[in-house]
Amino acid sequence: MFDTLKLSELSANNAGILRGPSSTRPTIWIVEENGIRAVVKDFSTNKFLFRNTVGRFLIWREGKAYKKLRGIRGVPVLYRVVDGLALVIEEIQGRNLENLENEIKLSSPFFDALEELVRRFHRRGLAHCDLKRAPNTLIGSDGFPYIVDWAASISKEEFRLPLLGSIYRRFLSDDYLAVIKLKLRHAPETVRPDEKDRYHYRSGGEKFIRAVRDRLRAILQKAV
Ligand SMILES: Nc1ncnc2c1ncn2[C@@H]1O[C@H](COP(=O)(O)OP(=O)(O)OP(=O)(O)O)[C@@H](O)[C@H]1O
Ligand SMILES: [Mg+2]
Repeated sequence: MFDTLKLSELSANNAGILRGPSSTRPTIWIVEENGIRAVVKDFSTNKFLFRNTVGRFLIWREGKAYKKLRGIRGVPVLYRVVDGLALVIEEIQGRNLENLENEIKLSSPFFDALEELVRRFHRRGLAHCDLKRAPNTLIGSDGFPYIVDWAASISKEEFRLPLLGSIYRRFLSDDYLAVIKLKLRHAPETVRPDEKDRYHYRSGGEKFIRAVRDRLRAILQKAV
């Protein structure tokens, strides 16, 4: 699928642009082949040094995550990795949740399905780590949730050592807290009291782990 696609030919003439590039973000193209549409997340349009370091690293991370997630409903299919610089991903018909609260009301079944989706990818040994950003969750035209942007995700194997294990568990818990955050914004009446408590509760120990984790995250982000 999309075997003949060349990044150098993805000029605005033969592909649609969903989002142009910035200094640190890839171009997001829409392409079509034999009636099938795909999204291309493409770092080839970024500056030389950035695309060959951060760009390649993020595409490698995200590609690896998509391969692990294959077959999970709610995660788009990865069709191809091109030149180590771009991912060609199944296009989800629908829209992301950013600012959606002003337009439509998301239902309780939508959030049940989102929670089930989070459970499923956790069982595969991955934490998403960036679900708090509403643009990374989509509502499909079928009404079901879809999750994109796996570049920041981490896998259980990478965090196997004892201390790292508790950080990994914190990331899992953060994914659920992100769902509660989305619920609070989009359908606050569906948030159960225990979820509210969980969302607001931070013990001293939690604060400490959180601080260590945030520090690690900042260092990792600087390193890439
Ligand atoms: N498979 C897809 N189907 C439909 N839309 C998509 C798909 N992948 C990405 N998008 C759209 O493109 C937007 C940006 O994608 P993505 O989050 O992967 O890029 P990003 O560079 O990591 O963005 P950001 O830094 O803003 O999080 C998403 O918010 C979503 O609206
Ligand atoms: Mg994103």
